Amino acid sequence: MSRHRVTITVNGEQRQAEVEARRRLVHFLREDLGVTGVHVGCDTTQCGACTVHLDGRAVKSCTVLAVQADGATVDTLERLSKTGDVEHPLVAAFREHHALQCGFCTPGMIMSSLELLQREPQPSEERVRAWLKGNFCRCTGYQHIVDAIRAAAQTSVAGDQDQAVTSPPSSRDTATEGGAATNSAVAGAPPSPATQDSRFFGQPLQRREDDHHLRGRGQFTDDVRSTDAAGTLHAALLRSPYAYARIRSVSVDRARGMPGVVTVVTGADLLDSVSPLPTNWVLPGMHVPVHRVLADQVVRFHGEGIAVVVAVDADAAADAVEAIDVGYEPLPAVTDPWRAAQPDAPWCTRDWTALPSTATSCSDCRPTQATTRRRSKPPTSSSASGFEIRI
Ligand code: FES
Ligand code: FES
Repeated sequence: MSRHRVTITVNGEQRQAEVEARRRLVHFLREDLGVTGVHVGCDTTQCGACTVHLDGRAVKSCTVLAVQADGATVDTLERLSKTGDVEHPLVAAFREHHALQCGFCTPGMIMSSLELLQREPQPSEERVRAWLKGNFCRCTGYQHIVDAIRAAAQTSVAGDQDQAVTSPPSSRDTATEGGAATNSAVAGAPPSPATQDSRFFGQPLQRREDDHHLRGRGQFTDDVRSTDAAGTLHAALLRSPYAYARIRSVSVDRARGMPGVVTVVTGADLLDSVSPLPTNWVLPGMHVPVHRVLADQVVRFHGEGIAVVVAVDADAAADAVEAIDVGYEPLPAVTDPWRAAQPDAPWCTRDWTALPSTATSCSDCRPTQATTRRRSKPPTSSSASGFEIRI
């Protein structure tokens, strides 16, 4: 693999490095430069967690090669918190409106919406929602994110936000001593939770951990680095390209023989050990599908894991994933809930976990794979919630 020297200005600092031609910008930022405020949520250009600004435009950095960014300027969420003492209006708005929970999507959400506000200082709610279609959040339900972006727009500083990235404001006027922004930072911000009848429900909360996430300093599992880099193994997943398909065959022999590969694990390998997984919180009478660590025989959603390669480095693992051959028989998938509710909709799963009627937690849940795998229909139950899952 050819190597190339690149010079990229990252968050105001010129950085030089030699990279492989296939090195993606997101991995260059995270692994080579330690800019871990950029997250990898999918590696397939879907989630938007890796969004950065490349010469002022929001891009998904998992879809840009580092060599393509040679000579360019890259700004990440960390850049916004470097701009002097004042908190960037978007960051302040996200804090005020409780627009983050786990914070994993937050860097991408902020960098993406930053470009929107630079282009359109007063976007409608509909426009904000449409703009965010490339950024997924698994926690918030989006409403608070939309509120935060619109509130930031109302500060009338949206037109200056490009300037905020490149020329720091001179005074701190939005943050309190503890790092929590005051409501005055954002026009239209809701009254303090203390003035509400309810202290928590339906109210934005300002939490201790928000500050880290809003500055790109959250610590997620993927940010943990071993002090023994040479001894660290890396895993890569082969994922299903189909929403629903029968797996006819999985051939891993070629992958197992590739340089640097330690092991390759398939769904069938795990059936008698760590699979299926218990469900965390089971309500009485609830029908729970059997959850497998890796798909076996059938894939039930796009991106479901089929095999894991463990190798001495990330590239070796990724290369071996490419060498796994899977024979699929695509099946008709149903992708909207109305269609799924029709009597003739195809079943997503025929495997159901048998539960005691009083089960309330995973410790009460005992998957009975041997019997449930032979079922052709989910259990019927007069006490059931009527909740059935199909695709
Ligand atoms: S990691 Fe780039 S879009 Fe998900
Ligand atoms: S994914 Fe957790 S806050 Fe968006």
